[in-house]
Amino acid sequence: MNTPPPAIDFARIPRERLPALLRTMPKAELHIHVEGSLEPEMTFRLAARNGVAVPYAGVEQLRAAYDFADLQSFLDLYYAGAAVLRTEQDFFDLAWAYLERAAADNVLRAEIFFDPQTHTARGVPVGAVIQGLHHACRRAHQEWGLDADLILCFLRHLSEDEAFATLEQALPWRHHFIGVGLDSSERGHPPEKFARVFARCRELGLHVVAHAGEEGPAAYVRSALDVLKAERIDHGVRCLEDPTLVTRLAAERVPLTVCPLSNVKLRVFQDMAAHTLPALLQAGLCVTVNSDDPSYFGGYVVDNFLKLFEAHPALDAAAAYRLARNGFEAAFADEARKAGWIARLDEAFAGAARRPLTCSRSLPRAAWTLALNETTMRSSSPSYGSAWCASHEGKTTSWPGRGATSTDGGCR
Ligand code: ADE
Ligand code: ZN
Repeated sequence: MNTPPPAIDFARIPRERLPALLRTMPKAELHIHVEGSLEPEMTFRLAARNGVAVPYAGVEQLRAAYDFADLQSFLDLYYAGAAVLRTEQDFFDLAWAYLERAAADNVLRAEIFFDPQTHTARGVPVGAVIQGLHHACRRAHQEWGLDADLILCFLRHLSEDEAFATLEQALPWRHHFIGVGLDSSERGHPPEKFARVFARCRELGLHVVAHAGEEGPAAYVRSALDVLKAERIDHGVRCLEDPTLVTRLAAERVPLTVCPLSNVKLRVFQDMAAHTLPALLQAGLCVTVNSDDPSYFGGYVVDNFLKLFEAHPALDAAAAYRLARNGFEAAFADEARKAGWIARLDEAFAGAARRPLTCSRSLPRAAWTLALNETTMRSSSPSYGSAWCASHEGKTTSWPGRGATSTDGGCR
């Protein structure tokens, strides 16, 4: 997918219009752990349904515990939280809730990670996990045209033999997942540990991705490429410590699925202003923006875009377009589907660029504040369903059961 970007005059899209455009532009999300989209409200609902005890008094107390020192402190809570997931219906409900949020963020393509070992260790059959998730994906496509597929992740703190056993258990549902990934505690668990099982997965025709260079060193990004033959690197932000690696990633156009809010919450960067995503883009890398574990890190994919752009004034409409386009280019989909998504992206930006530079109806100074307030409102209100648009721009269209939203970020 090397078609050059169309001649869109990005300079005609002022920064105050970006919140609306970021919210409404078509997107792909390529790095989302479905277990990390488990909102506290659902935790308590499923706990009651399944008779599982939750060691927190309520939703607020649980949310208050989302204060992490590093990746491991997050993972401890994340694995404990997953204990409420027991039945196929639970997995359907979990994925459905994520897909509703993704559709509201105008995600056209979602590639969703799941961690079967987290559940099989508790006696949940792998078929219940995969079928529940798969049915939600299928229904999202039928109802909204949202194209979603699953990627099975191996937990790297466990052994390669355990990964092989998981693969064997999952193979009866081979047609329900498109690839495999590698996640969990990175330090001390290099990609090499999983060389044989990834080779087997490649023989099976599965796509291959791996978390690397999140907390672990740049050397893990190299071995994910060289040993696992990873087609994309999840996170990868520490590649900047190795300039030769950066040159290679750019030359080979290896996508990095970067997750800004995650990196700040897990203290990879001290704050959003310190995030190196702009430097990665500047280095010519195929960077994409994703949510990782949205329930735990303070937001879904639009929230990641908004917070990132708010903290980096140099990121403009051209950067927004590039990031969204990279997401589609890096997706595991055939060229015809990618071209269709990119055409919709082009239309959104061309529409925004055609509109007058100033608009009496827009809310220039307040736009970021309003957009971010909207983020907070959505995160804290389970009944959220309005179609309020950050700067009341754009033609309207419906989203899943939620009234209307803007699709092109332009002024009417
Ligand atoms: N599993 C869920 N989120 C993860 C992350 N950010 N890094 C590694 N493993 C994960
Ligand atoms: Zn991740």
